[in-house]
Amino acid sequence: MYHSLYFPFMELSGVMLMGLVIWIGGGRLFDGYIEWGVLVAMLQYVPRFFMPIRDIADRFMTLQVAMASSERIFELLKAEPEPEGGDHRPEEVRGEIEFQNVWFAYVDEDWILKDVSFRVDAGNSLALVGATGAGKSTIINLVCGFYPIQKGAILVDGVDIREWDPEELRRCVGVVQQDVFLFAGDIETNISLGSPDVSDERVRQAANVVPDVNRDRPSPVDDPECGQDTGSA
Ligand SMILES: Nc1ncnc2c1ncn2[C@@H]1O[C@H](COP(=O)(O)OP(=O)(O)OP(=O)(O)O)[C@@H](O)[C@H]1O
Ligand SMILES: [Mg+2]
Repeated sequence: MYHSLYFPFMELSGVMLMGLVIWIGGGRLFDGYIEWGVLVAMLQYVPRFFMPIRDIADRFMTLQVAMASSERIFELLKAEPEPEGGDHRPEEVRGEIEFQNVWFAYVDEDWILKDVSFRVDAGNSLALVGATGAGKSTIINLVCGFYPIQKGAILVDGVDIREWDPEELRRCVGVVQQDVFLFAGDIETNISLGSPDVSDERVRQAANVVPDVNRDRPSPVDDPECGQDTGSA
C-alpha cells in the first residue's frame, strides 16, 4: 500500500520538477540570463536529487520485511513445547478411528466441533463433506494430535490418542494437504520431508506414482527446478 503510493508519487514529483526546470530554465535561457550548460546541469541534478529519497524508501521496505520475519521468529520462540504424550507404541496398527463426543475450539469457546462422534473401522473409508470452514481439515489435525481437544476422546485402534506416543501416531497417518507447500530444496527432500529413514528407493517409488513429476528429465528426484512448477510432489 505504502509502496504503491510512495513510488508513483515520487515519480510524478520527479517529472514535474523536470518540467518546471525546462519551463523556467528555457525561459531564462531565451532571455539570456543563463547559459545552455546551466540548464543541462540542472536537468541532471533533478534525478540525482530523487535518487537518495528513493533509496530511503527501499531501505524502509527492507526494514518492514525484516520486522515481519522477526515477529515470526519471536512467535516461534514463545511457542509452548508440545506435551510429551503417552508411550503406546503398538507392534501393528490396524487403523480404526473413533471420535467420542469430541468438542474442539482453536480459540476459547469458539467451537469448531461440537459433540462429534463417529467410527471408521479398520480398512474402511470415510468421506467428510461440508462447506468451507466446516472443520474437515480440523478433524485430520486432531487425529494426528496436533491440537489438544477440550472434551471427549479420539481413539485410534481403541486407544486414546493422548496415550499414544505422538511420533508413532503421526508416523502411521499420511496426510495429503489441500494447500501445496514446497520446501526449498530438491524434490527428494520434499518427498522424504528430509527424513533419513526414507530410502532413495522409496522416494523414487513415490515420485513415479505422481503423474505430474516430469519423467523426461534425466533424474526428476535430483533436479531442484523440477519441483517449482509441478506442485504435486
Ligand atoms: N489454526 C487455526 N487457528 C484458528 N482457527 C482456525 C485454525 N485453522 C482453522 N481454523 C478455523 O476453523 C474452522 C474450520 O477450519 P477447517 O480448515 O477445518 O475447515 P475445512 O472444513 O477444512 O474447510 P475447507 O473446505 O476450506 O478446507 C474455520 O472457521 C477456520 O477459520
Ligand atoms: Mg480443509
